[in-house]
Amino acid sequence: MDFNLTEEQQMIQAAARDFARERIAPVAAEFDESGTFPIDNIRAMGELGLMGIEVPEAYGGAGLDTIGYALALMEICEADAAHGTIMSVNNSLFCNGILKHGTEDQKQKYVRAVASGEAIGAYALTEPQSGSDASNMKSRAVRSDDGSHYVINARKSWITSGPYADYLVLFAMTDPEAGAKGVSAFIIDTRVDGFSRGKTEPKLGIRASATCEVELDDYKCPADCLLGEEGQGFKIAMGVLDAGRIGIAAQAVGIAQAAYDASLAWSRDRKAFGREIGSFQMIQAKIADMKCRLEAARLLTLRAAWAKMQAQRTGARFTVDGSMAKLVASEACMYITHQAVQIHGGMGYSKEMPVERYFRDAKITEIYEGTSEIQRMVIGRTETGLR
Ligand code: CAA
Repeated sequence: MDFNLTEEQQMIQAAARDFARERIAPVAAEFDESGTFPIDNIRAMGELGLMGIEVPEAYGGAGLDTIGYALALMEICEADAAHGTIMSVNNSLFCNGILKHGTEDQKQKYVRAVASGEAIGAYALTEPQSGSDASNMKSRAVRSDDGSHYVINARKSWITSGPYADYLVLFAMTDPEAGAKGVSAFIIDTRVDGFSRGKTEPKLGIRASATCEVELDDYKCPADCLLGEEGQGFKIAMGVLDAGRIGIAAQAVGIAQAAYDASLAWSRDRKAFGREIGSFQMIQAKIADMKCRLEAARLLTLRAAWAKMQAQRTGARFTVDGSMAKLVASEACMYITHQAVQIHGGMGYSKEMPVERYFRDAKITEIYEGTSEIQRMVIGRTETGLR
């Protein structure tokens, strides 16, 4: 076992850290307050290779590995989780699925644009009536008689980056009788007639990452925008989420690191009863518990990233690794940000410090890309072999 990072992993980590400190941290509170989508920073991150870290250079990406991706995402989320959300959707949910299942033309056209930061990608699985129960979808895609295109009617909710997305990977039923085996995946161009966006969601946290409903009304999707084969869509969706969950785990580690660092500094500076509050055992116990959970979450996240890298060689699934990392890291993040507010007392509750933002941003990591309950279900089903 070797815990050392490769030169390339250190390089992308340092590039993300420098960008996060110089360009994101100074404006994070302002973007959170206004809920403005940070488009200029996203384009600049694309130029640095942060929007397609695992995408081969031949398709406009940085050509690095999953550990490098997780490390970079941790750095970005330490400065601002909302920037991290946009980055993770472009990398994991959009580019990843097309790289794995797409044709050469699809990779050249869509992956290249999103990995370079010129275009924004999104992933449309959830519907108003189905979040956790993902295969219970009402969206329909009907193939034309001549086979040249599909007519798609769909309503999708909670689409991260939806208000700005140029392209979506969208899931719809081509064979509603077949249940999960009747789902197919499509690449949708949002500039084509029949595509529209609903209202932007007013959110508790990650406020600068825009989220909306999208609707497809008799949208004509060319047959060459089918991703994979008809009926493979649900497995594509689940496989993409396996990778996505490693990204959310990394996001949780980044937010938790920021909350931990702030708490450590505060416990050394703030005085009560004539001494630094960090000298009190009750604060020290909190710091110890926060540190242990943070490092456990980091290790599980990097191990899941490593498992995904092994899977590229062996073809094995890394579903449980991703679910365990997301479950542990998101719950550690919620715990650590909660304790951080408590250690800061009134100042933890004030918008004058970033700690309340970390606390608000933490919550989504327990919800999106599969709730903690879904992660427990995935792990429990796999471990027991029972349903
Ligand atoms: N990889 C490959 N195949 C998989 C798979 C995976 N990870 N998980 C399931 N499958 C396959 C199964 O093997 C099965 O295939 P067979 O019938 O051939 O064996 C098929 O898919 C159906 O699987 P299940 O019977 O297990 O399906 P289910 O209906 O019981 O659902 C579930 C499983 C785990 C609950 C799944 O629905 C799920 O993960 N739900 C959560 C959805 C979710 O995470 N949504 C997040 C939305 S995206 C988002 O949040 C993005 C954002 O904003 C940033």
